[in-house]
Amino acid sequence: MRSAKDFFRPLAVGAPAPVREVPFRPSRMIHFFDPGNERMAAKVPALAPQVDVLLGNLEDAVQADRKEAARAGLVGIAKATDFGGTQLWTRVNSLDSPWALDDLLTLVTEIGDKLDVVMVPKVEGPQDIHYVDRLLAQLEAKARIGRPILVHAILETATGVANVEEIAGASPRMQGISLGPADLAASRRMKTTRVGGGHPGYLVREDPKPGDGPRATYQQDLWHYTIARMVDACAAHGILPYYGPFGDIQDLAACEDQFRNAFLLGCVGAWTLHPAQIAVAKRVFSPEPEDVAWARRVIDAMGDGTGAVMIDGKMQDDATYKQCLVVSELADALAARDPELADAYAAAEKENAR
Ligand code: GLV
Ligand code: MG
Repeated sequence: MRSAKDFFRPLAVGAPAPVREVPFRPSRMIHFFDPGNERMAAKVPALAPQVDVLLGNLEDAVQADRKEAARAGLVGIAKATDFGGTQLWTRVNSLDSPWALDDLLTLVTEIGDKLDVVMVPKVEGPQDIHYVDRLLAQLEAKARIGRPILVHAILETATGVANVEEIAGASPRMQGISLGPADLAASRRMKTTRVGGGHPGYLVREDPKPGDGPRATYQQDLWHYTIARMVDACAAHGILPYYGPFGDIQDLAACEDQFRNAFLLGCVGAWTLHPAQIAVAKRVFSPEPEDVAWARRVIDAMGDGTGAVMIDGKMQDDATYKQCLVVSELADALAARDPELADAYAAAEKENAR
């Protein structure tokens, strides 16, 4: 039993008070870099203004004998870099590895004031979040960090999916959840060896036609169920859902499609593994200027948001007003960070008003 009143008490004496709402900061792309790779690390200051989130990755893709170098590299980069309005996140090693504890001990005590979010991989249930939650509180108190570091879980085990609602609500620190399609495919024994995206074998076929004509097939989205479930769990707990990695760096068109499906279903961003994917994520996760102008037109026409009006032959009511607020509020938050986008939204609104 845990009293609702205790939920917002710090988990260690001297730790900062938990947040009551997840701050909505633009996070269209969570750009991964290997902090142990000196060539990549040197690009960080130039990369920071181009992305919403920079993530120093310590987990998969970093070789076992390079784990400590990556951790030390991240400490050095964080101390030396002014990230401006760009968030700094890290992905620590999984909790069943020998490195996770030292990752948290080192990062929070050395650069806790610079770290916005800790991404925890292979989360299986609320117990994993509780472990990290208490440990972060102890370390924040020790390092005298003034605001809580938030936690982001990767949904990448079958057990994690079965427990996703409980994971989303496990702590006020929960900032969001990302789909991890590679580990999840392995955990579920799915038969795809791709990192995200579709598969030509996963399809439906048109009914037979008279005369045995060729029957069209339509590829289906392998990730639809999981993304939709993750979005519901996140929305129910007031946290943010993200698509994860798209591994085929050459296929920007398919990457864009996968990102857009996730955006339309409710996700706010995706991971970018290569600089080529940054522009794709920015385009997809920023609502189109025409859609924003339309949303604002509906909001203006709906006054206090009740009743019904017809605009260009389309019925608008309290519910469509709320749909339009989602688009308009997202556009406001992104425009505040992205002057180019602010101009595009203003121009489309002006055009619409003529
Ligand atoms: C990401 O970590 C994945 O496993 O897809
Ligand atoms: Mg993974």
